[in-house]
Amino acid sequence: VALAKREEVDLVVVGPETPLCDGVVDALDEVGIVAFGPSAAAARLEGSKAFMKQFCSRHDIPTAPYIITQDIAEAETYIDERSCQVVVKADGLAGGKGAVVTSNAEEAKAAAHAMLVDGKFGDAGRTIVIEDRLEGYELSVHLLCDGKRYAVLPVSRDHKRVGDDDTGPNTGGMGAFAPLDVDPALMARIEERTLRPTIEGMAAEGAPYRGVLYAGVMVSPDGTPYLLEHNVRFGDPETQVLMPLLSGDVADLLRRAATGTLEDGALPVADRTHSVVVVLAAGGYPASPRTGDPISGLDDAAQLDGVSVYHAGTKEKDGKLLTNGGRVLGVSACGSSASQARQRAYQAIEKIRFEDMHYRRDIATSASN
Ligand code: AMP
Ligand code: GLY
Repeated sequence: VALAKREEVDLVVVGPETPLCDGVVDALDEVGIVAFGPSAAAARLEGSKAFMKQFCSRHDIPTAPYIITQDIAEAETYIDERSCQVVVKADGLAGGKGAVVTSNAEEAKAAAHAMLVDGKFGDAGRTIVIEDRLEGYELSVHLLCDGKRYAVLPVSRDHKRVGDDDTGPNTGGMGAFAPLDVDPALMARIEERTLRPTIEGMAAEGAPYRGVLYAGVMVSPDGTPYLLEHNVRFGDPETQVLMPLLSGDVADLLRRAATGTLEDGALPVADRTHSVVVVLAAGGYPASPRTGDPISGLDDAAQLDGVSVYHAGTKEKDGKLLTNGGRVLGVSACGSSASQARQRAYQAIEKIRFEDMHYRRDIATSASN
């Protein structure tokens, strides 16, 4: 707040979930600085999975059946009684690592034990949600909201598992593409059953939602969209494929969302543009990424047509660029088709090197064109 005042900032856009849940937007509001992002009360949609699940129950939003518990005995009994596979989730924020998708009761109990008894994730894991593991395919739906109205951004797909063909542990996201071709009837159903009830429900509960809402949706084999999670911020790396698709003044759009003046459906989306991002990860990611390795080839990569390279886990030291985190770079490319964008991104990656670099080779192969 002090920095924003000193710099006479017109618009603050809050990126990550932790400061949102801590109330930075409320603090900026109090001193009259326009800030894009939900209040702490509205940010509970991501900050507490228990809140989110109960909110879904209150507003009849389809979501996986669940229990909320703080008790390991209750958790174990529930896991035994439930005949299906389950997902065990820490209630609070856990840096994207708080959901454990399990295959059997033993794994589920181990995950519950780690959170409730061993204190993995600290206070964030003192309460857990156990829910049915759903089958289907996932969509990322981002909307800009002004408390009442909203505009839906192009639908994107994240690739969460570390390995090709969705193998290995979950990560923050290994790559994404947009737009995803979604059947209009399905999209209408997602809006009607999930998005609109969320915006209306938050307003009715006295915590109108302003900012970007990112709904993670799983479409089951029978075509029903289930809400897996709400995030109260832009997805990473999804944003790297969404921004190139917006052709208008994004800052103005965010300002209007922040001030409650978003007109319905007012989204300047670039037609005929497809966008792909591939994440280059450090050796050992997601468990224990190595850091401090020199990175080369970025200038050559960025010169290719339609390519932009985004820094995530990097730092500069003595004029050299080094790896400094699990997800090191996002190599993004635009094209007139998904396959062209994809080809460009992978061509750019061939120019980039660092020790033990790894990435998925199958990003956007599920795009239809
Ligand atoms: P979350 O921590 O809730 O954001 O979940 C992270 C990821 O775990 C999701 O994007 C899904 O890939 C997976 N996931 C979460 N909940 C479920 C579920 N009920 N069934 C299957 N996969 C899930
Ligand atoms: N890519 C997943 C996320 O931002 O939560």
